[in-house]
Amino acid sequence: MQCVPTRRGRVRTVTRTAALFLRQFVRSPRTVGAVLPSSPALARAVLAPIDFASVPVIVEFGPGTGAFTRAIAARLTPRTRYLGIELNPVFAHALRREFPGLTFVHGSAADLTGILADHGIAAAGAIVSGLPWATLPTALQKAVFAAMDRSLAPGGVFVTFGYPQSLVLPGAQALRRRLRRAFARVER
Ligand SMILES: C[S@@+](CC[C@H](N)C(=O)[O-])C[C@H]1O[C@@H](n2cnc3c(N)ncnc32)[C@H](O)[C@@H]1O
Repeated sequence: MQCVPTRRGRVRTVTRTAALFLRQFVRSPRTVGAVLPSSPALARAVLAPIDFASVPVIVEFGPGTGAFTRAIAARLTPRTRYLGIELNPVFAHALRREFPGLTFVHGSAADLTGILADHGIAAAGAIVSGLPWATLPTALQKAVFAAMDRSLAPGGVFVTFGYPQSLVLPGAQALRRRLRRAFARVER
């Protein structure tokens, strides 16, 4: 039997998710970095560069309430492993409930290498980031890039996004410099 949610049911779920996101933003504005979750259109754009047919391991930094995770789950094949790393314990708990078939670690993206090793994974073929780069401390940004340098497979893909209004912030400018230094090809 297939249960399809009613329109009213979907609206209620979206509203509950948005309220959860907003509450966590109020508690921790710099680490959550946005007042609302990303849209399905942004999720599609962020995932477009990833070849789901061939990537063996996909890692998501900062899945939040699952805006990108939902779209990843819809594209995952049995050959691809997924690992989400979320710093906020409330989000991590909600993600485990909504996506029981996926693996979520409550921890920091900066600890990527150790987290992969704990799960018997040598490297990630693709990393999708929802991290709010513009509001993260510079030292954390540096640590996340150092971890990616160790743990993104050769030829791997890293996809991230930023808000236009944040582009002038030092964190966003540092991110652009880091991307150019770390990757052979950077597309916008
Ligand atoms: C802007 S929200 C994006 C959430 C979701 N990806 C979306 O697009 O709707 C940033 C997310 O990154 C998480 N986060 C912040 N710092 C983190 C870190 N060091 N490691 C892992 N997650 C982190 C926050 O808790 C939050 O869930």
